[in-house]
Amino acid sequence: MTNISPSQQEIQAVVDELRARYARIDEGEVATYIPELSKANPDEFGVALVTAGGRVFETGHCDRLFTIQSISKPFVFGMALEECGHERVFERVDVEPSGDAFNAIELQGGTNRPHNPMVNAGAITVTALLHARHGAGAFAHLLHRFSALAGRRLEIDHAVYESERSTGHRNRAIAHLLLNFGMVHDEVEAALDLYFKQCSILVTARDLAMMAATLSNMGCHPITGKTALDMSCVKDVLSVMFTCGMYDYSGQWAYRVGIPAKSGVAGGVVAVVNRQLGIGTYSPRLDRFGNSVRGVEACSELARRLGLHVFDCLNVGSSFLETVLEGGP
Ligand code: DON
Repeated sequence: MTNISPSQQEIQAVVDELRARYARIDEGEVATYIPELSKANPDEFGVALVTAGGRVFETGHCDRLFTIQSISKPFVFGMALEECGHERVFERVDVEPSGDAFNAIELQGGTNRPHNPMVNAGAITVTALLHARHGAGAFAHLLHRFSALAGRRLEIDHAVYESERSTGHRNRAIAHLLLNFGMVHDEVEAALDLYFKQCSILVTARDLAMMAATLSNMGCHPITGKTALDMSCVKDVLSVMFTCGMYDYSGQWAYRVGIPAKSGVAGGVVAVVNRQLGIGTYSPRLDRFGNSVRGVEACSELARRLGLHVFDCLNVGSSFLETVLEGGP
């Protein structure tokens, strides 16, 4: 590697070292409830970091394409806030951790709103709002917006989409429960189809790190320089990722790692260090919560070694890494 300062070499060394360490872990299982996902190679492992200024550090399988799955949820939530307005979105979905599984068939008592946009009921509700707005052009619109967040043209995995569409009976039940309570519009099957498609968008660990870096950079992609998400929505997206992004592990994650994050069943994890950097990991073996085993360990160690926890005393005014990496004061 040429032209990199010692401090950048140090960051690269940390990334390489933790990949070597956690690649040895072979606990956890590849998801099989969407049959197509079971074809993933369980041994692949990639870790990517992108700073808010666009500097990339990566190791392992950072070019491997996999489906974004639930990691789409915070980004679609942000798009809905921007396009439909905060009030309209919060009429339909709350921001409370649910304490239940991501695919629980339940709504809040009283309001009939889903608990938050990170569980399937909330995510389908948010996606339905965008479907109601864009109709038949909704997926092209979403794909365009995801591509802007990643800084390259993304595509859908048709086999995974078909696999989930033909087996997603539980999500269909959730969608019809939402329709029963008037939380989604009448075109519920089309909205559900949009949800299956958004989950089937193909990304790499590097893409996830870029998307996270875009959030860390107030919605502006660090390399293209284009605004991919309005700045006014970034705080809301990061807040729900922080409290609800890692399912029933969210409390422990906030305690141990302290970075807003979201996992997906294909093995991805995305994490955002506000105003500093984005992290993307890929390793398809999942723990009992549905989070990538190696992804959780890699992010935990990164947070510890680089002082990234939001309440870490090294993370002074969110400027620690910026100072180290970009040669600040
Ligand atoms: O709704 C589903 O079942 C998937 N398409 C997405 C689930 C997911 O990634 C949950 N993650 N941990």
